[in-house]
Amino acid sequence: MSNPSLLILPGDGIGPEVMAEVRRIIGWYGDKRGIHFDVTEDLVGGIAYDTHGTPLHDDTMAKAQEVDAVLLGAVGGPKYDALDFSVKPERGLLRLRKEMDLFSNLRPAQCFDALADFSSLKKDIVAGLDIMIVRELTSGVYFGEPRGIFKEGNERVGINTQRYTESEIDRVARSAFELARKRNNKVCSMEKANVMESGILWREVVQKVHDEDYPDVELSHMYADAGAMQLTRWPKQFDVIVTDNLFGDLLSDLAAMLTGSLGMLPSASLGAPMANGRPKALYEPVHGSAPDIAGQGKANPIACILSFAMALRYSFDQGDEAARLETAVEKVLADGARTADLMGAEGGTPMSTAEMGDAVLAALD
Ligand code: NAI
Ligand code: MG
Repeated sequence: MSNPSLLILPGDGIGPEVMAEVRRIIGWYGDKRGIHFDVTEDLVGGIAYDTHGTPLHDDTMAKAQEVDAVLLGAVGGPKYDALDFSVKPERGLLRLRKEMDLFSNLRPAQCFDALADFSSLKKDIVAGLDIMIVRELTSGVYFGEPRGIFKEGNERVGINTQRYTESEIDRVARSAFELARKRNNKVCSMEKANVMESGILWREVVQKVHDEDYPDVELSHMYADAGAMQLTRWPKQFDVIVTDNLFGDLLSDLAAMLTGSLGMLPSASLGAPMANGRPKALYEPVHGSAPDIAGQGKANPIACILSFAMALRYSFDQGDEAARLETAVEKVLADGARTADLMGAEGGTPMSTAEMGDAVLAALD
């Protein structure tokens, strides 16, 4: 059997810096655990524009469609701000998401105990927190028609349309239930079925998918506004939350910040299952290319490292190995390892990107 395949797109700014540490960790899995990947590396974003005149070459797009998973660093930077919208670095990432049809966006909110003081909430409310928000990513109010700014009598009217088909709800619900089975078997679906017809349909379809194919998973429903309150009041009541594009945009940012720094946050975007049963998948840190610290060896590589851990769990069925990597990260943080973004007011000398990579590798050993 051939090795699972991974396409690495480091991108711009701190992307290549944090990805270099992930490359070392991938090497560790080969050397020490006998888990080998067929890794190919290619260009995305500004660096692809510099080389090919497009932020994503067709050959790169074709590769992304073939591999088992894509791991991306970050794209963009001030150098490209003046470019035409059609060739901006971000368009490379958007094209990947669109053509791979990555409809299920996974945003974990996980609190490492050593960083619980970073939260704006009380320590006992966030310590040990580990929840996953599944946001529908390719439909809903950001895409629905009609949309635009129109003239109506003497004034203008701005219109966006919340629109969901049964099949769009069905597939993201399935993705959430599959995920819950790899976690703590609990899903809470959030909408506004009290005031929106799209919410009524959402609730009905999620319930149907559950009853027919996932009766073993515990399902509850909550209005999204109440959900926002519950997320800040007692977030540990949740395991997987599934919601639409708009509510998911807000709730995933809210939940992520319960737990601290941008340099710590991984994400995954999943699509339909491929012939081998694995979902189309793109893993990336939530942060951008951080031009203010790029090239200085200051970036925290943990968000990108944890994105690879998500790939191990959700693309490669290596949940135990993902937990091994997450535990290593937890250990280095507990031992006091800190890049600059994780330093509190007390000061001290921060670690470099490579030193944090060294620490995680040492903890893996
Ligand atoms: P950003 O996430 O790049 O940076 C925001 C702040 O967080 C900066 O102060 C940065 O130094 C810090 N930061 C981010 N990641 C860090 C890490 N791993 N370690 C330590 N500190 C970290 O967002 P910003 O500044 O709004 O955007 C910069 C560029 O990145 C823009 O061109 C933007 O379009 C692009 N961008 C790309 C994204 C992507 O590739 N998915 C997402 C967000 C922004
Ligand atoms: Mg957002």
